[in-house]
Amino acid sequence: MNLPDLKKAKIRSDKPSVYKIANDVKDNCFKGQKFYLKTYGCQMNVHDSEQIKAILENLGLEETEVMEEALVIVLNTCAIRENAHDKVFGYLGRIKHLKKEHPEIIVALGGCMSQEESVVEEILKRHPYINIVFGTHNIHELGNLILNNHNKQDIEVYSEEGCVYEGVNYHRDSKITAWVNIMYGCDKFCTYCIVPYTRGKERSRKMEEIIKEVTLLKEEGYQEVTLLGQNVNAYGNDLNLGYSFVTLLEEVAKTGIHRIRFVTSHPWNFTPEMIDIISKYDNIMPYIHLPLQSGSDRILKLMGRRYTKDEYLDLINKLKNKIKDVTITTDIIVGFPNESEQDFLDTLDVVNKVKYDGAYTFIYSPREGTPASKMKDNVTLEEKEKRLQRLNEKINQYSKESNEKLVGKVEEVLILGISEKDCNKVYGYTRGMKLVNVLAPKDVIGKIINVLITDAKSFSLDGIQK
Ligand code: SAH
Ligand code: SF4
Ligand code: F3S
Repeated sequence: MNLPDLKKAKIRSDKPSVYKIANDVKDNCFKGQKFYLKTYGCQMNVHDSEQIKAILENLGLEETEVMEEALVIVLNTCAIRENAHDKVFGYLGRIKHLKKEHPEIIVALGGCMSQEESVVEEILKRHPYINIVFGTHNIHELGNLILNNHNKQDIEVYSEEGCVYEGVNYHRDSKITAWVNIMYGCDKFCTYCIVPYTRGKERSRKMEEIIKEVTLLKEEGYQEVTLLGQNVNAYGNDLNLGYSFVTLLEEVAKTGIHRIRFVTSHPWNFTPEMIDIISKYDNIMPYIHLPLQSGSDRILKLMGRRYTKDEYLDLINKLKNKIKDVTITTDIIVGFPNESEQDFLDTLDVVNKVKYDGAYTFIYSPREGTPASKMKDNVTLEEKEKRLQRLNEKINQYSKESNEKLVGKVEEVLILGISEKDCNKVYGYTRGMKLVNVLAPKDVIGKIINVLITDAKSFSLDGIQK
């Protein structure tokens, strides 16, 4: 048994990262049986689930959408806010019930929640029916953990800086767009955030491995890659090999893959050279997700974000001036401890100036073990909810306005599948990452087509193939 340890999870040493090859176990002993996988959280977790699927399939298991049909149930969890926890603990009720009727079911819980001491303590005390708890550093061990479980409770979570695994197998959900990890972990330690504790230190994959993966994806017919990391523009800093995110972006662009995206950028690491590269290559999409978190200098300082309101706005101006048709989205937290009305108005001021194309907005949620969770807070939940509502009204207004500007224009859209809203239509994304429902035949799925935008809603566009 290995239990998570928040103190250990905080350690950052100068040791270089260790590179290892991930070898999945292959064993057909579960042939004919099914697995059910539920994923919470960010793109990182969605991509980790593609690794989990490949591991389960190597055991002979087949995926099902119906939990009741499964012999193996895996939850890939997220710890970013309390409501992410609540959802998982709520879901466990259903699993407990199922397990009473079918004790042979194997239940595994992984992802960021498993890396938290308090969660694992609760599992030990109250959820004995969970068979396996595995963490974010040992996903590759899941196959063996399942094979050797024999209906006991195995808790194998490491709180370590983490190494870099190469040779990972993925069962990718799409044949058109693919996630590519370029780095793991985070060293920013924003005072409200749990990620540096759940994902370990910032560590980059070597550039040649990333280029190999992208080249292979291109050869397999993939149209788009999204480079993934908590701070993609800090890429390479830990390697001391003389290259940075700018070098990597340029090399990925040179592979000739049609579309390149990247998430998430941190304003502090955004260099002028990055802006130049994005505007130089047509296959780097003009779409930047640039978390603001707060527009108040006082709160930004308390959050440990390393930039001021003016520096952020200055960066936005450069992006808008230098990258043609750039779209910008963001993340904002309202109700950080002791956020005043004036602090909140500073956030609204940034929103009014940037006029974001879209934003994810959250009420601050204290995370155990983070510095902010120890700060006194005099703002009521009711006030925080009101601020969130005021913020969302502005965000929706600007999102709709930016969509309306596209009506009558022709946009390049990568078509991903049949529209969820109307089965006679297909859907896809513009270069600027706007969702479009398109009137076009089904054989355009997987292709980039020209679309005349005919109508704009708050969160999507309508169009017809040109
Ligand atoms: N690495 C990215 C994203 C991290 S998590 C970045 O640095 O921006 C995604 C978003 O969740 C964050 O941008 C932040 O807005 C939000 N978030 C993180 N911790 C939170 C907390 N304790 N309460 C509320 N929102 C939080
Ligand atoms: Fe969390 Fe900050 Fe790291 Fe983003 S940069 S993952 S918000 S600590
Ligand atoms: Fe959640 Fe972990 Fe991602 S906390 S947001 S799944 S890095």
